[in-house]
Amino acid sequence: MYQLSTNSIIMKNKNKVVLGNQRNGKWVRISEQEYNDLCRVLHTDTIDEKYAKKIETLYRIGILVKDDIEKNEKDKLKSLLIAITNRCNLRCLHCGFSAGPEETDQLSSKDIKEIIDANRNIGSITLTGGEPLIHPDFWDIADYLGEHFNGSKGLMSNVTLVNRDNIDRIVRNFNNVSISLDAATPETCNCIRGEGVFEHAIEVVGMLKEKGLTDISISFVVTDINRKEQDAFKKMCENLGVKPMIRSFFSIGRGKENENILESGHDNSHKMSIEDVPEIRKKMPIIGTCDAAVKSLYVQYDGKIYPCPVAAVNPEFSLKHLNELETKDLQLLIDGRLACSGYCKFEDTLSEKIESCAKCKVKSFCWGCIIDYFMFFDNENSKMKFCDERKKLLEEVIWGD
Ligand SMILES: C[S@@+](CC[C@H](N)C(=O)[O-])C[C@H]1O[C@@H](n2cnc3c(N)ncnc32)[C@H](O)[C@@H]1O
Ligand code: SF4
Ligand code: SF4
Repeated sequence: MYQLSTNSIIMKNKNKVVLGNQRNGKWVRISEQEYNDLCRVLHTDTIDEKYAKKIETLYRIGILVKDDIEKNEKDKLKSLLIAITNRCNLRCLHCGFSAGPEETDQLSSKDIKEIIDANRNIGSITLTGGEPLIHPDFWDIADYLGEHFNGSKGLMSNVTLVNRDNIDRIVRNFNNVSISLDAATPETCNCIRGEGVFEHAIEVVGMLKEKGLTDISISFVVTDINRKEQDAFKKMCENLGVKPMIRSFFSIGRGKENENILESGHDNSHKMSIEDVPEIRKKMPIIGTCDAAVKSLYVQYDGKIYPCPVAAVNPEFSLKHLNELETKDLQLLIDGRLACSGYCKFEDTLSEKIESCAKCKVKSFCWGCIIDYFMFFDNENSKMKFCDERKKLLEEVIWGD
């Protein structure tokens, strides 16, 4: 028997219905009549040939499922990001965490090992920072993760401290490495991250590949300094055989202090043009539901646990401190999140909770991340500007002819 996936959403407007999957972003629009027929057919034991093809399509794109296995999987902690230190050997212009050599916050290896032990069967644990390799116990922690954790083991690093002597230990203990470069040329990287970082990182990519690691990505946070290099960056990643990770710049910490050089206010990435409607319609995904504190958590170098790194901008969004936990089984935080004031405050920043957006007929295509909330929604003027630029066009894309 087919039924709607728990990840499905249904939106109705006039005589049209949009069915979508919030996990994979896919969606279709059908008439209200077709939708009513579909509901009727799904409640019958045998499916009429006339509807079989349509139902098969909805099944293929994840709007319908054949059973409710996924219900059991809901709200299970799947991924954990642990910033083990806020010290760093670099001082990148955009660093939202203001990491640098003078920072002292770090988690103890005892706490980190206890977290690994109590969550050893979740999908993934990724170590980040600051620069994780600068933690005095990094290698001990990496070996422990490699030996005791059953899921996928990730490392986010500037890789300046990775070399021929320790590369085997990296490959032995991690399944994936995410390297940050923010550039397609040494000159641009020098400006953002520092001299020699680019060349060394490219060398490390070669070493990792030589040792058989295939899951490598390179991160690129878009700012005014590197905006023009995005295409060259994607090409470079293709040539290197690594995944490009293009990320939006979030103006906080040192990034905010350097805002005048990083973000001159002409970022039009959220703007769309009415001429592009047919193209946008083909590509426009449904914005996924946010996984933060539902399937993923972020443990920060100061011991505070947040839904995600962006939420850590506001200490009020902290769910708990490691010291307050009776056990480091973090699934308990996911289970109890609705009773946690930090989560409730965080949840108030999600699009369904913003009054004007909650009723909007295009909200599932507009925004869904706390980054957008901070960038556009905690200021009435930027909120109106953002909405003005999008609403009319999205209505045309989603509901127009
Ligand atoms: C904080 S760093 C920690 C790991 C390591 N030091 C590195 O640079 O990869 C993790 C990621 O956050 C990104 N990041 C830092 N500040 C940011 C900001 N203001 N906006 C968006 N991403 C940022 C970095 O570029 C990096 O890819
Ligand atoms: S982005 Fe990473 S490498 Fe750069 S200062 Fe921040 S923590 Fe260090
Ligand atoms: S179009 Fe405007 S009201 Fe609708 S979700 Fe986007 S910002 Fe909110």
